[in-house]
Amino acid sequence: MNDEIVIRAMKEADLEEALRLWKISFNAGFSINFDTEEVLVKYLNRNPELSSVACTKGGKIVGALMCGHDGRRGSIYHIAVYDEYKNKGIGRRMEQRSLVELKKVGITSGFLFININNPGSEEFWNSIGWTVIPEIKYLYKEF
Ligand SMILES: CC(C)(COP(=O)(O)OP(=O)(O)OC[C@H]1O[C@@H](n2cnc3c(N)ncnc32)[C@H](O)[C@@H]1OP(=O)(O)O)[C@@H](O)C(=O)NCCC(=O)NCCS
Repeated sequence: MNDEIVIRAMKEADLEEALRLWKISFNAGFSINFDTEEVLVKYLNRNPELSSVACTKGGKIVGALMCGHDGRRGSIYHIAVYDEYKNKGIGRRMEQRSLVELKKVGITSGFLFININNPGSEEFWNSIGWTVIPEIKYLYKEF
């Protein structure tokens, strides 16, 4: 099945499908009030080519990941793959594609955060080379 999945850049037209996937995939860490289509269109336009989707040959989106940078470090958000496509290397392939695109614009390191209420997420990221930095706490403020 893996060979039938194409990994490519996420486009604005993919966002409706990506949002559908994210809404059902996360126990925590995804807010439909914050991550509206309007916000995500701006993010894609600010970070062209960096976010990735996984599609069947028929064009159905089965995986999605947001990726961007701030000019200094890369960031990844909201990786998800539909249940029936999990454990086939699709998450890894989307991450690899986005990191290749980050390198093209000169970004060679990055951060991401996980919500501990999403089971398996830390194990997944560890498996593909991301490590927890124990001395760092992630802070948040709305303004
Ligand atoms: C996390 C997620 C995106 C992984 O996608 P995936 O396509 O199934 O992952 P891959 O098949 O590319 O797996 C890559 C590696 O991670 C490991 N892995 C994947 N899911 C895992 C899990 N739940 N527990 C432990 N290891 C896991 C795989 O075994 C593989 O390691 P290996 O190459 O050493 O065998 C998918 O499980 C998902 O959509 N989860 C729900 C949403 C979520 O929690 N996202 C993370 C938010 S931070």
